Amino acid sequence: IERTLSIIKPDATRRNLTGKINAKFEDAGLRIIAQKRIQLTKAQAGVFYAVHKERPFYDELCEFMASEPVVVQVLEGENAITKNREVMGATNPADAAEGTIRAEFAESVGENSVHGSDAPDTAKDEIGFFFSQLEIVG
Ligand code: GTP
Ligand code: MG
Repeated sequence: IERTLSIIKPDATRRNLTGKINAKFEDAGLRIIAQKRIQLTKAQAGVFYAVHKERPFYDELCEFMASEPVVVQVLEGENAITKNREVMGATNPADAAEGTIRAEFAESVGENSVHGSDAPDTAKDEIGFFFSQLEIVG
């Protein structure tokens, strides 16, 4: 059984889409074993997305992620990392498969409704970034 870190981004929390997005996760067999609503500072978003700091969109991305509250969650299930990325769809909603979260809800390549960890090592780091062990009830 695997765990991954998910973020429901500001464009989605603003439009009251948390429940609809969570239904997609649960329908795919992912269990939400930790969840909280927080607002990041731009500096905290910068640390979380440090891997992208040389990319041209880094500043815009950090500004966006700090602009309004997000919902951070730990999802658990068989192949949770891959399964979550399938449910999310491609980064750019124009390329996202029908029925995916980004196809249905994302507004643009930047404001694309969700984040999901991309590998076991990043999932472990990202879960630890937001959650203590006491907050995760598997
Ligand atoms: P995450 O799950 O959020 O990491 O998405 P991803 O793995 O599908 O995409 P990637 O790691 O390549 O990029 C991280 C995030 O940066 C994306 O989810 C977008 O929010 C943002 N991003 C990526 N490309 C662009 C871009 O060309 N322009 C802007 N404004 N944002 C981008
Ligand atoms: Mg990524």
